[in-house]
Amino acid sequence: MTSAVVIKGMKVVRDGKILIPKLDLEVPRGKVMGLLGPSGSGKTTIFRSIVGVQAISEGSIQVLGIEAGTIGLRNKIGYLTQSASIYSDLTCEENLKYFSRILGTTEISVNEIIELVDLGANRKQLASTLSGGERARVALATALLGSPELLILDEPTVGLDPLLRIDLWKLFHRLAQQGKTLLISSHVMDEADRCDHLTLLREGKVLASGTPTELKTQTNSSEMEDVFINLVGAK
Ligand SMILES: Nc1ncnc2c1ncn2[C@@H]1O[C@H](COP(=O)(O)OP(=O)(O)OP(=O)(O)O)[C@@H](O)[C@H]1O
Ligand SMILES: [Mg+2]
Repeated sequence: MTSAVVIKGMKVVRDGKILIPKLDLEVPRGKVMGLLGPSGSGKTTIFRSIVGVQAISEGSIQVLGIEAGTIGLRNKIGYLTQSASIYSDLTCEENLKYFSRILGTTEISVNEIIELVDLGANRKQLASTLSGGERARVALATALLGSPELLILDEPTVGLDPLLRIDLWKLFHRLAQQGKTLLISSHVMDEADRCDHLTLLREGKVLASGTPTELKTQTNSSEMEDVFINLVGAK
């Protein structure tokens, strides 16, 4: 099986509004795939559907070969929600131990994950006193607990400084090299270049899919920024 997620003909309706009319999407295994699109284009809605917390009206979603929402997938998916939730009155380590206990993972993995996201120096620090970037890394660490095969990260680098963003993208690629599949949303086009594969989204529809190089070639663009503009202009 080469795709970690296969979405076919998915329609999502909420409060009588069609948010996603008909979506086909495949997420290749062991790669970093980016889902890019402006605010309101449906990125979070798609993620919620894959994770199984958003009902779909039509179509199908297979995740790691099983229907989305199936209980057996729970420990195989790490989901970092857009408004990352960690407890301010717990330390970095306590947050991870708490989530780890819920997931039933061992404390050894908490230590490994703290090192992985480079929070060793902040281990005993209360989350309320962490910087924005450190908090983001604690939240990311919670998604890594239990070593899930598929990581779904909703705008994991938003609000972070450029150096930290580069570090996180390195981490994403390291995880992919270990065989994990990463699906990452962003609306920052310069991050698109860092993805192995990209899907550009607009108003719940796929505008284009491919590697960054393929998309630049297809649209005669030298910069990723122009790809989106040229695609929208061509419609
Ligand atoms: N509960 C809801 N009822 C009606 N419409 C909704 C609901 N939740 C989201 N929407 C609409 O669905 C559309 C897609 O929203 P979604 O959150 O998936 O976009 P997004 O691409 O993640 O945006 P952002 O980049 O701002 O996070 C938006 O137009 C939003 O207003
Ligand atoms: Mg969103």
